[in-house]
Amino acid sequence: MCGIMGYVGKQSCAKMIYDGLKKLEYRGYDSAGIVVLGDTKLEVAKSVGKLFNLEAELGQLSPTAKMGMGHTRWATHGAPSVANAHPHTYDGFSIIHNGIIENYQALKISLLEAGTVFASETDSEVILHLLHREYAKDRSFDKAVSRVIPMLEGAFAFAAMTIEEPGVFYLVKNSSPLVIGCGVHENFFASDALALLPHTQEMIFLEDGQVVKITADEIELRDFSGKLLQAQRKILPKVDSAPEKNGFRHFMLKEIYEQPAVIRATLEKVFGASGAASLDESAIGLSALPFDTIKRIHIVGCGTAYLAGTLGRYFLEKWAQIPVSVDLASEFRYRSPYLDAGTLIIAMTQSGETLDTLASVKFAKQAGCPIYSICNVPFSAIPRGSEATFYMNAGPEVGVASTKAFVAMVLDLFLFTLAFGHKKGLISQAELEKQRSYLQRLPALVEQAIEQQSSIEQIALRYFEATNSLFIGRGNSCSIALEGALKLKEISYIHAEGYAGGELKHGPIALVDEHIPIIALAPKDSHYEKMLSNIEEVKARGGRVIGVGGKDDKRLAALCQDVLACPQIEQEDLQAILSVIPLQLFAYSIAVLRGTDIDQPRNLAKSVTVE
Ligand code: AGP
Repeated sequence: MCGIMGYVGKQSCAKMIYDGLKKLEYRGYDSAGIVVLGDTKLEVAKSVGKLFNLEAELGQLSPTAKMGMGHTRWATHGAPSVANAHPHTYDGFSIIHNGIIENYQALKISLLEAGTVFASETDSEVILHLLHREYAKDRSFDKAVSRVIPMLEGAFAFAAMTIEEPGVFYLVKNSSPLVIGCGVHENFFASDALALLPHTQEMIFLEDGQVVKITADEIELRDFSGKLLQAQRKILPKVDSAPEKNGFRHFMLKEIYEQPAVIRATLEKVFGASGAASLDESAIGLSALPFDTIKRIHIVGCGTAYLAGTLGRYFLEKWAQIPVSVDLASEFRYRSPYLDAGTLIIAMTQSGETLDTLASVKFAKQAGCPIYSICNVPFSAIPRGSEATFYMNAGPEVGVASTKAFVAMVLDLFLFTLAFGHKKGLISQAELEKQRSYLQRLPALVEQAIEQQSSIEQIALRYFEATNSLFIGRGNSCSIALEGALKLKEISYIHAEGYAGGELKHGPIALVDEHIPIIALAPKDSHYEKMLSNIEEVKARGGRVIGVGGKDDKRLAALCQDVLACPQIEQEDLQAILSVIPLQLFAYSIAVLRGTDIDQPRNLAKSVTVE
């Protein structure tokens, strides 16, 4: 997934595009570039590594250029390098691309056989040379674009420009996101409206199978067959300035500290300021779903969103007595799942743009399934394809490692469960009141968990040089073990695996020795005794155990080398939200000690818009 930004109009655009790319850096940050329409030719500046490296190259671009586009890359084909960075440019043509051209090898071979010389190892460059070749046939940019589109297979969003038709962009959208920002005698486009909001609130979200011709005064939208379409304009609320760290060392830490406020805001949204025990079904999105026909639920998501979804299965099968399956979105549609109009799909996604999840949603829609999404970004692709969306309202999550969005997704799934079970007559008003009182305690308990940060930092000093680690838990703590392992992996680069505590003896216990830290989740829930047994099994083999549990739990402390203290709540479902906090802080503390790039870890991106 990459970030795309472009402009045509009355303003000088090189610095504007660079500033726009800074808002898109979460989409990929291994290289970047900008092309502008100079007086006599296309002018290009590119750089490798983080986006700020490009700033030093902007001097190569005409300061008066009023048309241009830029790209920040997450490499799919070809290592991060200047040659592989976009824009790709040749003989007065230039393109930038987000996605994967799955048939690029065959296309490249045919182009090479015709004598084309490639400057990069990327799949994207084939688009450039196909456009250039097709244009030469009848010197029509419009026809060249129309002829190239059907040649391409895979997920793509690309923008193209040429000195042959100054002032004209063509944008093509098929699976990867593209949004147009509408101005007066100027127009903008980007992968994410975030980059355009400083300039306009009037947006056109392109859908798959659409191509658009843009000039400073014209936006002409067509489908791939050439049929003219009416562009739907949406007015987005102005966002205040870009998220800042507000004194925190990293966005990730800031977002960990924001979790109590996110929980409070969600509870107020769903129960109302009075805190009455009546759930607002429309705020949750339940009222927009065909409730009476829903017979089963499939939850889909990726990474942390998937792990949040695994908790939804515990909640829904327990409280709403409905069959639930949870799938990795990248696997879901390949297992031929049983789907029909009675199957509700719950799409878990912070960004709303994850292509694996979006593809699962599209697949299920074709089978007639109603779609419900839990998402943090209004107007993003997955909510746009959903019957109903529960917006997390967690505020922008900038850190690539998801923290507050995970907690928000788990909370939102629990609230959806209460609403669903209540509507089904399985949860009484009295029970709803009881659950609300538990929920109202969460923000303060999460604050208590966060207050353990300095003691967790001390414990991290003893483990930050580990090369492997195991996280174990039972029941819904198993999902938290997996999430804790993912957090540690993705920001500290230490190999970490999450396992069901009961599964250890079926193989993974062979890994246990004095070198591998074992993080064991042992809250005082119905699995407590068995978890203590698992810890004993590990200790009997020389294992070093870090317990995660009650601060005053003497039995746990006696068994463990260290304990990451965690507040306890007698409502087992909600304990998961508390138990994840020490693991977020543990991963963060370890990564700080290892000096990794915590907000933008290597090889990763915040929103994965490739399959
Ligand atoms: C989690 O820390 C990762 N950043 C990643 O697993 C993420 O959760 C996943 O890519 C799904 O993203 P989404 O929630 O935006 O769909």
